[in-house]
Amino acid sequence: MKTLFTTDYKDYERDWPVSRRPSARALILVGDKIALVYAKNSGYYKFPGGGIDENEDNVTALIREVEEESGLSVIPESVEEYGVVHRIHASELYKGTIFIQDSYHYFCKVKTDENGKPIISKQTLDSYERVEGYELRFVSIEEAVQTNLNFKSDDFAKLDMITRETLVMEKAFGLLEIMPRYFAESILERGVSKNPGVWREHSIAVAQAAEKIANAINKSALLHKKPKLMNPDLAYTCGLLHDIGRQNGPTYIAHVYDGYNFLKSLGFEFAAKICLTHSFNLQNADDYIGERDVTTEQMQEIKSILAITEYDDYDRLIQLLDSVCCADGSKDLEKRMNDVKKRYGYYPEGKWNKNFALKAYFEKLMGKDLYEVIR
Ligand SMILES: [Fe+2]
Repeated sequence: MKTLFTTDYKDYERDWPVSRRPSARALILVGDKIALVYAKNSGYYKFPGGGIDENEDNVTALIREVEEESGLSVIPESVEEYGVVHRIHASELYKGTIFIQDSYHYFCKVKTDENGKPIISKQTLDSYERVEGYELRFVSIEEAVQTNLNFKSDDFAKLDMITRETLVMEKAFGLLEIMPRYFAESILERGVSKNPGVWREHSIAVAQAAEKIANAINKSALLHKKPKLMNPDLAYTCGLLHDIGRQNGPTYIAHVYDGYNFLKSLGFEFAAKICLTHSFNLQNADDYIGERDVTTEQMQEIKSILAITEYDDYDRLIQLLDSVCCADGSKDLEKRMNDVKKRYGYYPEGKWNKNFALKAYFEKLMGKDLYEVIR
């Protein structure tokens, strides 16, 4: 089965003993709705499915778990492979061990009555599922994803689980791959705890400004009877995590490379791309201001990715805001660029001019002065 993504927090030692608990999950379309389990006491959607027992094959587990959690009855011949999500992390339950979960996803159909309505039998929930209030719902994929994008919890393991479910929904149905906001915020805080610094405030300022600009652009589009152009959730989360590579310590160009690889490892290719592009408004890695603290191979990799990347408005927006949001919390393009110039002794003219061009570009899209929108 093809791999959808691999979540690996690398929070373990390689020689620790490994335990595995694979699972099977169902993607069930009924008309234009999707059959999901809604945790009504927590407020999120998940695919019906669960753990594969020892000596049980995947499809048998899928049918059993779907029946238990949702009461739906999967038609065995309809089961089609979609993709597997790998998750590797230090076990919370057994200290000093690694937990690996491979979640196998399948498209499938369920048994219906003569009117084409799904036949629903009684659920059999375990105690955790009862506490969560699992119930079967038929919803539009957009509604399920939006509910999950807004899900809040202080429980990181739960946020992590919901983020993976949401990303599979987005990937399976061709939606924008947006990270739940609260998960992105938790990722930032976890990163900051590893390497405290003003990059936290900078990241938040960029995120908030990105969201405001996305909203202002959409408002202007609406006035001109055009469809929405930017997704504010995507702008916010990409802005929030553009510098996440800084969690590895005080680095220079390495923070671009590390952030890219970290978000890619979580399966968020789009946000990963922003980590890589945000420092290069001219799409040229040679004009980086700061040390080249990566290997020759890594530098080559950055250049190769840049060469084949097509910049979109999210890349441009974060490039601009990275150069607008100052360390002291103020927002001023010229001041920020002068600060950088003072710190490094130079600021390439092309990069400087490009930032002003980006400012003018977004002001035109918003029909407003940049500072009026973000200050
Ligand atoms: Fe950066």
